[in-house]
Amino acid sequence: MIPDLETSQKLDINLRNITKEYRLGDRKILVLDDLNFFCNEKEFIILTGYSGSGKSTVLNIIGGLTKIDKGQARVLNHDLEKMTEEDLAIFRALYVGFVFQTGHLLDSLTVLENVLLPVELAQRNNNDYSHEKIAWKLLEEFKLDNRADSLPIMLSGGEYQRTVFVRALILDPDLLLIDEPTSNQDSITTEIIIQKLSELKGNKTILVVTHDKHIFPLADQIYIPTEGKLAPYKV
Ligand SMILES: Nc1ncnc2c1ncn2[C@@H]1O[C@H](COP(=O)(O)OP(=O)(O)OP(=O)(O)O)[C@@H](O)[C@H]1O
Ligand SMILES: [Mg+2]
Repeated sequence: MIPDLETSQKLDINLRNITKEYRLGDRKILVLDDLNFFCNEKEFIILTGYSGSGKSTVLNIIGGLTKIDKGQARVLNHDLEKMTEEDLAIFRALYVGFVFQTGHLLDSLTVLENVLLPVELAQRNNNDYSHEKIAWKLLEEFKLDNRADSLPIMLSGGEYQRTVFVRALILDPDLLLIDEPTSNQDSITTEIIIQKLSELKGNKTILVVTHDKHIFPLADQIYIPTEGKLAPYKV
């Protein structure tokens, strides 16, 4: 059901009639086909489903990283399809915490420097070192405080993933977009991340792409991409 306009003002995510196709040479892959998706403020949503079904594509559209071909993508009261790349970068820096499926730490920066990078990009005043304090607290929570001076190449897969997570949280974003946070399969990382997601639930709008059934009980709604749309997932 499509919410009326008044209700939709309160929606954090409002995707309407979204179409997205990729071109590979002369082949076209229609990934999203007239997709509608709504998410209220502070809801916890899970996207699950088979590889290549479009989960990351949906997440990247909501984060303003992937352009849509047709439709409207309204996120935190911003019409993403009308925004310039520069405005989208500012939007992301201010409001979105991204935990990507694949890496994206800067190799030449230490863990602490990587975690503090969004603070610089958002041009927050860091003179009072308040973000550094927050960074250390998060590094401790994620059992990374003894890795603060390490370069990404020195980290285990789980430590790397946890660092990406801390970086996503450093600016306390309204919206968290998380792609396969526990795919690393190491139990410490899984435990820490699920604990953190439980704490964050109800305080932020959270979208998680996952197959991990341990995370499913946290979700208010679970969806599965089906024929280019998001269908409710039956547990
Ligand atoms: N930049 C791109 N160029 C061409 N095709 C792409 C691109 N990005 C994604 N695709 C294709 O779009 C489809 C959906 O990809 P997407 O990454 O959203 O799937 P997914 O559900 O996240 O899969 P996985 O579970 O493997 O991460 C796939 O067929 C993929 O090959
Ligand atoms: Mg994916």
